[in-house]
Order: sequence, then structure tokens, then C-alpha cells
Amino acid sequence: SEDEVVNVTFITKDGEKVPIRGKVGDNLLYLAHRYEIPMEGACEASLACTTCHVYVHGDSYDKLPQPLEEEDDLLDMAPFLKENSRLGCQIVLTKDLEGLEVELPKATRNFYVDGHTPKPH
Ligand code: FES
Repeated sequence: SEDEVVNVTFITKDGEKVPIRGKVGDNLLYLAHRYEIPMEGACEASLACTTCHVYVHGDSYDKLPQPLEEEDDLLDMAPFLKENSRLGCQIVLTKDLEGLEVELPKATRNFYVDGHTPKPH
């Protein structure tokens, strides 16, 4: 139903704004993929990479649940980390996130982690 719609805007590395209609319960990573947004997800949302790194604009950042410790640890290793960095695959749409704007970083590093040791992939 219309109540379930959550409008999301992706901002690509080139600064292009891509508005899409998601819905409550959508995982941001899979939503991006459904619309062919070039958001990487090397570990398929299993909290073992940082390739789904995004910047969450505006007050949506504060509306998100706190990151798990694993997410925080991974983010520490993400290139171009900012105050509003999150792992996109850990973002699930809620009605509260209407108007969410997420920006893709200019680069991500693709490595899997084993414990806390980055490994080349
Ligand atoms: Fe790997 Fe999000 S896809 S942590």
C-alpha cells in the first residue's frame, strides 16, 4: 500500500541524484541493486566487508538504530570514513526514514575480514 512507500534518494559518486521508491522493511543494499545503483555488497550483507559504505545525509542518520559493534569495527577500516558513515546493508527502511538521502563514497576497498585483520581479496 501507499503507506508502505519510503522515498529514498541515492547520490552516486558522480553526484547524480537518483530518486527511487522503496518500502518499509527493504534492506538498502538490495534496494539499490534492484534499481541498478552501483552500491557494492561484496559479502552479501554478512557484515564482513566495507564495500556497502554510504554517507547518510541529514537527520536520517540519527533515526537509524545504533550500529552493531561489528559494523563500527568495519567502518573504522573503510576508506573516506565520515561522521555520517554507515554500512548500507545494515540499513532497513522504516516510515521514519521517509526522504532518506544516501551518498556513495568515491571509492570502497574490497577486502574480507577475518577477526580484525584485513586481507586482500
Ligand atoms: Fe558487506 Fe555490507 S555488504 S558489510
